[in-house]
Amino acid sequence: MREGHSSFDLSGKTAVVTGASRGLGQYLGRALARAGADLIVTARQADDCAEFVSEVEGLGRRVEALSLDVRDQASIESFAKAATAAAPRIDVLVNNAGCNVRKPSIEISWDDWNLVLDTNLRGMFFVSQAVAKQSMIPNGYGRIVNIGSYTTVAGFAGLAPYCASRGGVRQMTMALADDWGIHGITVNCLSPGWFKTAQNKVLYENEEWVEYLCDRIPLKRPGQPHDLDGAVVFLASDASEYVTGQNLLVDGGISTGATRALPKKEG
Ligand SMILES: NC(=O)c1ccc[n+]([C@@H]2O[C@H](COP(=O)([O-])OP(=O)(O)OC[C@H]3O[C@@H](n4cnc5c(N)ncnc54)[C@H](OP(=O)(O)O)[C@@H]3O)[C@@H](O)[C@H]2O)c1
Repeated sequence: MREGHSSFDLSGKTAVVTGASRGLGQYLGRALARAGADLIVTARQADDCAEFVSEVEGLGRRVEALSLDVRDQASIESFAKAATAAAPRIDVLVNNAGCNVRKPSIEISWDDWNLVLDTNLRGMFFVSQAVAKQSMIPNGYGRIVNIGSYTTVAGFAGLAPYCASRGGVRQMTMALADDWGIHGITVNCLSPGWFKTAQNKVLYENEEWVEYLCDRIPLKRPGQPHDLDGAVVFLASDASEYVTGQNLLVDGGISTGATRALPKKEG
């Protein structure tokens, strides 16, 4: 760390954020840009990041949008080449691209399972491998932040493939931390609770469900766009230089098991 600089300062660093066409990817990218990082943002169609690119440029940061389909090996390879051509070094990788299929387990098809696991787990692994190989290992430095979920540590009905993928992300994070620590790369998992985005919009349209959810969250509300800022900047910066293989839950406490006092007895 340079003397006189905050260890949370990301000035001069380049961060890749996958899945930044909407939702959490934009929350995370915004926090990193505000902390000083230049960005490379991705979506399956780079153009879908155009509005976000203008916003980040407005913050005075350099930003490039690249196309990346994490389910497609050739796309990962060409993304990694384009990213290393766009930036001399990639300091931070936030693996945020992901998807979900919400169905009773009895109705999950072979294709549903593959879609979720290929996107959330296989994709995350091979994007990490490509960025590590092309940039972080040669540079001897990297911060990889894998976006998990509170389902890294809990189950949830109707989300079996998703929970399986997130449990896998947590274990993979520990394995990669062990593999790549020697190269100066930390690998951690940032696990959000419930945030209102396109991925779960339909649930938030149901008032009864929101009430039920908030009752089970110790802090009594879903996540707000700024709630991940501190955690992502911490894990992306030198403030976390001795932290690797960990799972940081930012979930209002829902993963605690959300115990409540018994209702008072009448009379
Ligand atoms: N919202 C929550 O409460 C919550 C909680 C915990 C964890 N998460 C996780 O956080 C991440 C972002 O969630 P979100 O709620 O912001 O979801 P979202 O609104 O559905 O956004 C998902 C992002 O991932 C990208 N993406 C999807 N499939 C992709 C693929 N095959 N290749 C590349 N990019 C792909 C999408 O880009 P394009 O469609 O434009 O390609 C989009 O930018 C996900 O991994 C999600 O599981 C969300």
